[in-house]
Amino acid sequence: MIFDTHTHYNDEVFDGDREEVLKRIQAEGVGRVVDIGASMESTEAAVKLSEVYDFIYATAGVHPSDIDRLAEDDMERLKEIAGKEKVVAIGEIGLDYHYENIDKELQKRWFVRQLELAREVGLPVCIHSRDAAKDTLDIMQAAHSEEIGGVIHCFSYGWDMAKIYLNMGFYLGIGGVLTFKNARKLKEVVEKAPLERLVLETDAPYLAPEPYRGKRNASYYLKYVVDEIAAIKGITSKEVMQATWDNAVRLYRMGQ
Ligand code: NI
Repeated sequence: MIFDTHTHYNDEVFDGDREEVLKRIQAEGVGRVVDIGASMESTEAAVKLSEVYDFIYATAGVHPSDIDRLAEDDMERLKEIAGKEKVVAIGEIGLDYHYENIDKELQKRWFVRQLELAREVGLPVCIHSRDAAKDTLDIMQAAHSEEIGGVIHCFSYGWDMAKIYLNMGFYLGIGGVLTFKNARKLKEVVEKAPLERLVLETDAPYLAPEPYRGKRNASYYLKYVVDEIAAIKGITSKEVMQATWDNAVRLYRMGQ
């Protein structure tokens, strides 16, 4: 069975057919999903989904592109939510310098604050880092993130950076990008990283794999990513599913 470690089924693009999509992904072999909080609102929505569906778990956190209205009160609320049984991580949190409209200093401040929160509540973190390799690593090292643990979601840097995170005990989230023609760097990371440290993720509705690139993504497309990892590692797709399932369970500290 497939474990999708990072989805946004709480997103409004699923409002018209969410139930249908969630039924179909189960029918196509997806056994567990972690729906990600990316703002205060989507955190609440992800938790609601986890309360309705047995196979869905949730995270609590605010994405760097949504931090501009955050206040300390929100940290209190996130802390409360983090105490719920099916909330398995703090995230997604981090830095995103791709679009330059959100103040970098403010992003850093809330990234540091949410790493602290993860430490306080004893949960792993889901890290979002885009075009911000150095600052992300500096902050994570200063915060002794190796003691917090978690996953670098949608890993997009090279093998040198991957090695550092693997040494810190982090998992690497691998999704649709792996199937893209220009994914040479990521293929190298998947080839060199131990299978025990890779987890599957869609980031649905974003980043659908080939041959569905550009379409709305959902967990039933993860099989294309599984096949690609299997080809790179020279093992069977079944072995990839089993290993990444076990890894995800360890990452999120769940029972089998
Ligand atoms: Ni995401």
